[in-house]
Amino acid sequence: MALDFNQCRMYSSKIVGLGHYVPETVITNQYLSNLMDTNNEWIIERTGIQERRWIDPAKDTVGNMSAKAARLALQRANLTEKDVDFIVFACITSDYYFPGSGVIMQRELGLEGIGALEVKNACSGFIYALSVADQFIKTGMYKTVLVVGAEIQSTALDITTRGRNTAVIFGDGAGAAILQRSDKPGILSTHLHADGRFAEELYVKDPGSSRPHAERQPEQFLDTTGFKVVMNGNLVFKHAVVRFMEVINEALQANGMKKEDISLLVPHQANLRISQFIQQKLELPDEKVYNNIMRYGNTTAASIPIAMSEAWAEGKMKENDVICLAAFGSGFTWASALIRW
Ligand code: UT7
Repeated sequence: MALDFNQCRMYSSKIVGLGHYVPETVITNQYLSNLMDTNNEWIIERTGIQERRWIDPAKDTVGNMSAKAARLALQRANLTEKDVDFIVFACITSDYYFPGSGVIMQRELGLEGIGALEVKNACSGFIYALSVADQFIKTGMYKTVLVVGAEIQSTALDITTRGRNTAVIFGDGAGAAILQRSDKPGILSTHLHADGRFAEELYVKDPGSSRPHAERQPEQFLDTTGFKVVMNGNLVFKHAVVRFMEVINEALQANGMKKEDISLLVPHQANLRISQFIQQKLELPDEKVYNNIMRYGNTTAASIPIAMSEAWAEGKMKENDVICLAAFGSGFTWASALIRW
C-alpha cells in the first residue's frame, strides 16, 4: 500500500505571507478587437475576462516580476530574504529555454547558494510547488520555503484572428507564498494528478527537443507556428469541469470535511464559466469563491497565488478558515490543496 504522507507528518507547514506583481500595461478587449476578429461581448460572455496585463519586454521578465512578488510576500510575513531556505518555482514560460527562472529570481533576491527547484506543470504548477514545499517542511528538511508561480504568456500568443481562441485568454503576472514550519495545522492536504494522454490538447510545441535538428534552427522557427499555444478549448473545458470537482471532493474526503466547511475557494483562473460551474456544484455563495480573471485573464501558474494574495489583502482569509485551492491545465494535470489558515 502506498504510504500516505499526509498521515505521517512530523511538522506542519503554514503560509505566512503572500505577494504578487502584475505588469502595468492593461490590455482591454477593445484593444484586442483592433488586432483580430473578436469583440468585447464574445470575450466577456465566453470567458468573463474584461482585461489582462501584458508585459513590456523592455521592463518585465519572469525573474524580476517574481522577485517583486516574493519581496512583498516576505515583507507581509515580517521576514527577509535571509530567512528563505529553499525555492520552489512553478513556471512554463521561463525567461530562457533553460535554465528555469527560479534561479533568475534567486539571483535578484541575492539568495545564491540555496536550492531552487523548477516545477513545469502549467496551471496546476503552483499547487504542485506548494505540495513539494509542504513535504520538505513536514520532513524537517527546510523551515522556510518560497513558493512562486509566475508566467509571461503574452509573448507566445498568436495575436491574429488565427490565434484568437487563446490570445484573448492569457495574461502575465507573478505570485508568491512563504511556507513555514508551524506548530499549528496549515496545509492540510494536497492531491496531485496527471494524464499525459492529453498532452497535445494544450501545449506549446517549440522549441521542443523532439524536433529534428534542422527544425530547431532559428530560421526555421520563423516559418513555423510551433511556438504558438495550441489549445482544444472545448475539450479542455469539458475535462476541466470534471477534474476540478473530483479533486476538490478528494481533498474534502481526505480531511473528513464537507463542501460547507470551505471558507474560501480559490480556483485556478482559467475561465469564469468554469469557476461558476464549480461554485454551483459546490453550492457556494459568491463570497466564498475568489475570482479575478476579470482583471488578469488566465495567468497559468501565477493565477492562484495572485488571487490568494489579493484575497488575503482584502481580508478574505481569516485565521482558522479552510481555504481550498484547485487547478486544472496542460498535461492534463490537476490538483487541489486544502489549507487551514
Ligand atoms: O488554464 C488551463 C486550462 N484552460 C481551460 O480550462 C480553458 C478551457 N476552454 C475555454 O475556456 C473555452 O473553450 C474557450 C474560452 C477557449 C472558448 O470558448 P467556447 O465557448 O468553447 O468557444 P468555441 O471554441 O466553441 O468557439 C465558438 C465560436 C467559434 O466559431 P464558430 O465555429 O462557431 O463559427 C470560434 O471560431 O467562437 C469563435 N471564436 C471566437 N470568436 C470571437 C473563438 N475565439 C473567438 C474570439 N472572438 N476570441
